[in-house]
Amino acid sequence: MAKKKSSSSAVTGRTRGPKVRVKTARGRKLSSTRWLERQLNDPYVAEARRLGYRSRATFKLIDLDEQFELLKSAKRIVDLGAAPGGWSAYVAQRNPGAEIVAIDLLEIEPIADVQFKQMDFMAPGADDVVKAMLGGPVDLVLSDLAPSTTGHKSTDALRTMALCEAAFLFACDTLRPAGNFVAKVQRGGTDHELLVQMRKAFKTVKHVKPPSSRSDSSEWFVVALGFRR
Ligand SMILES: C[S@@+](CC[C@H](N)C(=O)[O-])C[C@H]1O[C@@H](n2cnc3c(N)ncnc32)[C@H](O)[C@@H]1O
Repeated sequence: MAKKKSSSSAVTGRTRGPKVRVKTARGRKLSSTRWLERQLNDPYVAEARRLGYRSRATFKLIDLDEQFELLKSAKRIVDLGAAPGGWSAYVAQRNPGAEIVAIDLLEIEPIADVQFKQMDFMAPGADDVVKAMLGGPVDLVLSDLAPSTTGHKSTDALRTMALCEAAFLFACDTLRPAGNFVAKVQRGGTDHELLVQMRKAFKTVKHVKPPSSRSDSSEWFVVALGFRR
């Protein structure tokens, strides 16, 4: 992986070539054609490839880190929903020597200095499995957990919130005092009851849309800073 990071502003400031159009092809759905066209015209996709990042999503972590200094002096980090490994690989490069534990339903290519386990975080006892991989209290819990979308907005929102809630409960169980937590949520933010719990558990809770998050996506992030043990 390239050593230099590239911030969102650097990516969007890059000159773009003419828009690539993709013709519809027999056997390819219109939604797939649109996806392909978007990938080919997305400067973050090109920049992630140029820098050797495993995912476009890496830029979201870079944006969040620039805004909140999440990775500064974080030595034990958990990455929930890690595949294909963009966030974990970036953290391993940014914080050498840190203990990084990552999990996902999907397998990933191994990353040096990252302990990875393929598992369902929503399965009973999953939190205990992750805890057993940790050497002590955690500085930062990251959750980019995202359900496979159904296209049915309220179902997708409920599933995203269930993943966020599970990640929050895990964070409360494993963070050191003053530790930090980030999770993917949907536009509209965290469900009211969960937000009340988060505000009790953390000094500061904010909802943010990183500049690198696609404007047409409903994805936002909740950033909770300063865990009160
Ligand atoms: C947006 S992707 C994560 C991208 C990652 N941050 C990166 O930069 O490479 C969301 C991930 O959440 C995972 N996921 C969703 N539900 C899960 C669950 N119940 N347990 C474990 N992983 C899950 C998906 O398999 C998917 O890989």
